[in-house]
Amino acid sequence: MNTNRQAQTAIITGGARGLGLGIAKRLADEGTDVILWDVNFQGFDAATAGLQPLLQQQVDVSNWESVGRAFQEAVEVAGGQIQILVNNAGINGPIAPTAEYPLDQWQRVIDIDLTGVFHCCRAAIPHMTHKGYGRIVNVASIAGKEGNPNSAAYAAAKGGVIAFTKSIAKEIAQSGVLVNCVAPTMAETDLLQQMTPEFISGIKAKIPMGRFLKIEEVAAMVAWIAGPDCSFTTGFTFDLTGGRATY
Ligand SMILES: NC(=O)c1ccc[n+]([C@@H]2O[C@H](COP(=O)([O-])OP(=O)(O)OC[C@H]3O[C@@H](n4cnc5c(N)ncnc54)[C@H](O)[C@@H]3O)[C@@H](O)[C@H]2O)c1
Repeated sequence: MNTNRQAQTAIITGGARGLGLGIAKRLADEGTDVILWDVNFQGFDAATAGLQPLLQQQVDVSNWESVGRAFQEAVEVAGGQIQILVNNAGINGPIAPTAEYPLDQWQRVIDIDLTGVFHCCRAAIPHMTHKGYGRIVNVASIAGKEGNPNSAAYAAAKGGVIAFTKSIAKEIAQSGVLVNCVAPTMAETDLLQQMTPEFISGIKAKIPMGRFLKIEEVAAMVAWIAGPDCSFTTGFTFDLTGGRATY
């Protein structure tokens, strides 16, 4: 078992931009080797991003074969061990009333945001439990705790991620592998392009601190949860809502 942060490797899904890239940079700054997974690396340049990833892999988390193949390659390149998995890849899907929600878009949101997390955990858990150490951090959303009108597919998927996190955390609680999630409110990333201005201002109005979440704030919390100092908390949903969800 190696719990020295400097000698660890982390996979961050959806790592090419937004929260995932911020989390990757924070982990790298702390000395962790980072492996970026994303379905779309367009516009991503590691040097410009200020990052030297150990590996960049084009992975579609909604596709089990893609995830399984990439995980094997990642283990080999990492020299045999992956200690950290951050399941961050996600989409919002359209903003629409449930009665009009396009059937294919509902399925796409569930496939990426919920089944994608399952696929990555399914690949990583046997490896981590065999090694006797691991930290999995799933990026859920406040939508998964409170629901968001006109974004029901996203809220349902993120609520699923929270319940899935609790389930697997209990399944493997004695293995040395801890599984937690974070429930952020809105941060200004490309994800907001999928939302309407009314939807965005409605969310902002619910944040007692009166501002959006900063990418660095998510990254700092995830870095702690993904580290050895987080040692007696598993199955938990860490809040990142500026005082909105005080439960
Ligand atoms: N930004 C917010 O306000 C906010 C709030 C709460 C939760 N979140 C969650 O944080 C995570 C990151 O979101 P973000 O705001 O950085 O969005 P973003 O759109 O900037 O980044 C998401 C990344 O996921 C990647 N991705 C999408 N589908 C994928 C797939 N099938 N396989 C692999 N990669 C895929 C995208 O290419 C992109 O790089 C998401 O899970 C999102 O739901 C974001």
